[in-house]
Amino acid sequence: MNSNIISMSEHTILIVDDDKSVRMSMSVMLQHCGYRTVTAPGPAEALDIVRRQPPSLILMDMNFGGSTTGEDGIELLRKVSVLSPSTPVILMTAWGSIPLAVEGIKYGAKDFLTKPCTGHVMFQRIETVLAMAGPQQSDSAAEFDRSGIIGKSAAISDILDTVRRIAPTDASVLITGENGTGKELVAKAIHSNSRRRNAPFVMVNLGGISQSLFESEMFGHARGAFTGAATERKGRFELADKGTIFLDEIGDLDLNCQVKMLRVLQQHTFEPLGDSRTRSVDIRVVCATNADLPSMLRERTFREDLFYRINSITLHIPPLRERREDIPLLIRHFAADTPVDLKADFSSEAIGYLAAQSWPGNVRQLKNVVERAMLLADGPVITRTGAEKAYSAGPDLTAADTSPRLSGMTLEEMERSAVTASLEKHSGNISAAAAELGITRQALYRKMEKFGIRQ
Ligand SMILES: Nc1ncnc2c1ncn2[C@@H]1O[C@H](COP(=O)(O)OP(=O)(O)OP(=O)(O)O)[C@@H](O)[C@H]1O
Ligand SMILES: [Mg+2]
Repeated sequence: MNSNIISMSEHTILIVDDDKSVRMSMSVMLQHCGYRTVTAPGPAEALDIVRRQPPSLILMDMNFGGSTTGEDGIELLRKVSVLSPSTPVILMTAWGSIPLAVEGIKYGAKDFLTKPCTGHVMFQRIETVLAMAGPQQSDSAAEFDRSGIIGKSAAISDILDTVRRIAPTDASVLITGENGTGKELVAKAIHSNSRRRNAPFVMVNLGGISQSLFESEMFGHARGAFTGAATERKGRFELADKGTIFLDEIGDLDLNCQVKMLRVLQQHTFEPLGDSRTRSVDIRVVCATNADLPSMLRERTFREDLFYRINSITLHIPPLRERREDIPLLIRHFAADTPVDLKADFSSEAIGYLAAQSWPGNVRQLKNVVERAMLLADGPVITRTGAEKAYSAGPDLTAADTSPRLSGMTLEEMERSAVTASLEKHSGNISAAAAELGITRQALYRKMEKFGIRQ
């Protein structure tokens, strides 16, 4: 466990549980981690304590005196939020009653743990919740690594600020944004500014993993676990131990895999295929998606419990067209980075022209256009015409523009129409359509399956 965090802890944690043995064992475990503890057997006693001296954090059961509806827990949660709104609450539930915990999150609980709680996972969650609740850590003056994130717009400054604040915690982060907005870059920045920076950053593109491969890929497999498993293989979770796992395109995960994913993210334990010994890992989870998860929750294509597990914090990266002031900076940055014999400068007319475009492929598209303009340059200055040529020579991304402002369509409808249009345009050529849409071939296959589109 991370001892420098422990030594700073001056926190009192209130444990509310009607089971005396749970209160005692949790107390011992938490005191071991350097916290002070107080305990209460039920809601009334807990509220007394909160009234007298609000603790730094409350760990509470949802059910008291044999009831299993969770009503007592919700009631207590509501009263605490009135008496002491700044005191964070973490719920403790049995594995089978996660929906109850999800309900509790809606009433303001910060997180939930499933019993029995292991010391290590519990400590991580508590530290994270305390770090987010408490006053800003004064180490903000410490070196901050922008990890190559360029931009001075309010949106980018906000994102960098948040990254600075949350990187040292183990909070799970969900990064949302259109294709090419820089989600991966931000995920790396979180890792590079965390205490895990010298441990692995493991990236998994869930859009590219078929359901049958999911388990062996994520959890690994023993030798001979299935036909073709000639050697033992470590899964991505194990490879990410002590580091950060970046789950890209989490919205592409089907419901079956979502359940399996939930369990690892919840308990930090798993079993490789063909090996019943449980492994436990110490990981920080960062996810990214360009899907609209809230609407997937409503359609029940994405599990609510998984959603709450992956986004203690959401970072939304706006599309480039909503932060045009970053465009000139990005142009200069990419121009300087382009390996060409003869460096050409962008004229102010060229920059003005590029800053006014719609950039459906966002920063990735801008990078390509700048590189193309540099390669096509026939003199020391890139003119407006040169910029226009480079911009229009790119793939036509308008069909793939998933801007949610488009003509009242739902995101899903837009997605479907982008997929259909692209397949038509490329006469059913999967690779070409996938490249244009900026997704993997596998992800395209899954979308076709989802929308019932036949090749
Ligand atoms: N703010 C930025 N500063 C500098 N480079 C950036 C910035 N944002 C994005 N990029 C660059 O743009 C490209 C796309 O970024 P990235 O891969 O992080 O996007 P993404 O959101 O993960 O895209 P996708 O959804 O398609 O996976 C990368 O080459 C990245 O380095
Ligand atoms: Mg990406």
